[in-house]
Amino acid sequence: MARITDRTILIVGASSGIGAEVARQLAPGKNRLVITARRAPELARIAEQVRAAGSSCLDIPADALDPRAAADVVAAATREFGSVDIALLNAGDGPDMPIDQVSVADVSRMMALNYDVVVNYLIPLTEQMLRQRDGGLIAHTNSLAGLMGIPRQGPYSAAKAAARTLLDAARVELGPRGIRFTTIHPGFVATERISEDGLPKPFEISEERGARYVIRALEKEPAQAYFPWPTAALVRTLRALPTPLASVILRKLAYP
Ligand SMILES: NC(=O)c1ccc[n+]([C@@H]2O[C@H](COP(=O)([O-])OP(=O)(O)OC[C@H]3O[C@@H](n4cnc5c(N)ncnc54)[C@H](OP(=O)(O)O)[C@@H]3O)[C@@H](O)[C@H]2O)c1
Repeated sequence: MARITDRTILIVGASSGIGAEVARQLAPGKNRLVITARRAPELARIAEQVRAAGSSCLDIPADALDPRAAADVVAAATREFGSVDIALLNAGDGPDMPIDQVSVADVSRMMALNYDVVVNYLIPLTEQMLRQRDGGLIAHTNSLAGLMGIPRQGPYSAAKAAARTLLDAARVELGPRGIRFTTIHPGFVATERISEDGLPKPFEISEERGARYVIRALEKEPAQAYFPWPTAALVRTLRALPTPLASVILRKLAYP
């Protein structure tokens, strides 16, 4: 069981996949969960499971692309439970998107879905956590793809890299005022969303294991968390290699 107990935890993007599984694994810890995403029925189903396992749960259908809706979620969480101790910003999507097959609008949509959603929660959460005596933790489900330009996922890689950079700056600014930031970089996690996207997925891990890694990062609060280790080591190696050599390997991995 997760060691996190008696905390108010907001999970943005909790109706399926990693976010839903994190909510389920945190539920036995008698926490107060606020879960949000767009699909109301899926969210309600996860909320039922969380309550049955021992935590309070407020489910709020909301679109993270709408800044006002995001601010309303933070306000509702605070009204209900008094504070937000931990926020996991997990909404995002990274489909197969070769550059020669996308429109300008597709790329902008990727930026909105993986970067704007972080900004829309970062600002109201910062305002709220600065008011809290114990500050708070803002964690983001980034990706190992955010560490370098991954072929067929360029727009996604770029958006996740932007989010990491933003939170790196926020950490330096707001750390002394009590807000901690953790950026979590998963490799491939076998969620339903990515099961049929056609991308090769070396070293893929299960949803349950992925959620356990995420929760460990919420417990230990490193500035950056990377998992699983084989994919993290692969990315680290590729970054250290000369660009022409790394490009050959990346091309072989993306088009096996
Ligand atoms: N699976 C992987 O291999 C992998 C690897 C690295 C990183 N990640 C990252 O992990 C996170 C979760 O991915 P996943 O694989 O678990 O996929 P998922 O099942 O599709 O989860 C994404 C969650 O975000 C929500 N969401 C999407 N757009 C939203 C919006 N506009 N407003 C509010 N909620 C929104 C979705 O719910 P609704 O559709 O109901 O809104 C869903 O609950 C993503 O940020 C992804 O980039 C995943």
